Amino acid sequence: MLIRSPKDWELSESAATPEKLYRLTHRREFLKTLGLGVATAAFLPRGLLAATAGFPTKVNPAYRDPALKPTPYEFVTGYNNFYEFGTDKSDPKPNANRGWQTEPWTVEVAGLVGNPAKFDVNDLVKQLGGAEQRVYRHRCVEAWSMVIPWDGFPLAKLVALANPKPEAKFLKLSSFVDKKNAPGQREGNLDYPYVEGLRIDEAANELAFIATGIYGKPIPNQNGAPLRLVTPWKYGFKGAKSLVKIEFVAKQPRNTWNIMAPDEYGFYANVNPNVDHPRWSQASERVIGGEGVFGSRQRTLMFNGYEKQVAGLYRGLDLEKNY
Ligand code: MTE
Repeated sequence: MLIRSPKDWELSESAATPEKLYRLTHRREFLKTLGLGVATAAFLPRGLLAATAGFPTKVNPAYRDPALKPTPYEFVTGYNNFYEFGTDKSDPKPNANRGWQTEPWTVEVAGLVGNPAKFDVNDLVKQLGGAEQRVYRHRCVEAWSMVIPWDGFPLAKLVALANPKPEAKFLKLSSFVDKKNAPGQREGNLDYPYVEGLRIDEAANELAFIATGIYGKPIPNQNGAPLRLVTPWKYGFKGAKSLVKIEFVAKQPRNTWNIMAPDEYGFYANVNPNVDHPRWSQASERVIGGEGVFGSRQRTLMFNGYEKQVAGLYRGLDLEKNY
């Protein structure tokens, strides 16, 4: 993004882990995040292993395209953008796991709604009927992509629970502030809190999702624990992590990357291979975890392949101006 040099978009050789090794690491990582050794954890019932509300999840077959091969867990959790914890892709994994607490966690629903409320995240997931799993394409504005099995709930359910007033036209989503535990916030590498926005009809679209997990397990801190926005037809920066507030507002809110570099990042952030970033092409993407040392490349699809579900939202809008 703004502060990166092109070299940082390349995956290091050591990160290109073979699939077999990934499976082993995946299991070990998961047990580690729960603070359990392999010996103890092996005997625990599945329900206890995944104690957080909503887990284990049910796969939603409508969002499990067999043509999409999920990116190995190690890449999804080890190659991240989370500037609160550093600007390198390898920073968030260690830095977000040095004492930063994401449980318990409260999220506030506020603004122009009939039901303003503060929720404990686990209670919210329960209240919304538990979590489901969807496999989505994930395309970063930096022209790399992954395929991620997200667990969580449709944002539309939260919108319905909030009961927006007619004057509510947008959602403003804010991430946490915790200077003590977030080195990037102490450095001031971005304006914090990280904020993102959606039009209310985008938020109510069937694809918009709030993730509380990946791969059927609670979401790791570096991926935005305990809850983050996922809008698979938009560039990854829309996916604000570790949300503390979702506000319903009348006017289009500014979003962090647009504030930092308005010529490079817009409000819409729709994946559009026909509109280049001022500094690079968006026509293709590097597949993280794909074949070869730096992953393979593939052509980028309009709306990241979700044209059928979302094109109607933008009919009549000039997508070159509204990037
Ligand atoms: N959310 C917060 N709070 N801080 C961030 O720096 N980075 C964004 C987005 N959400 C970011 C954030 C960017 S630029 C991208 S591409 C995605 O998170 C990356 O998500 P991932 O690390 O889970 O792939």
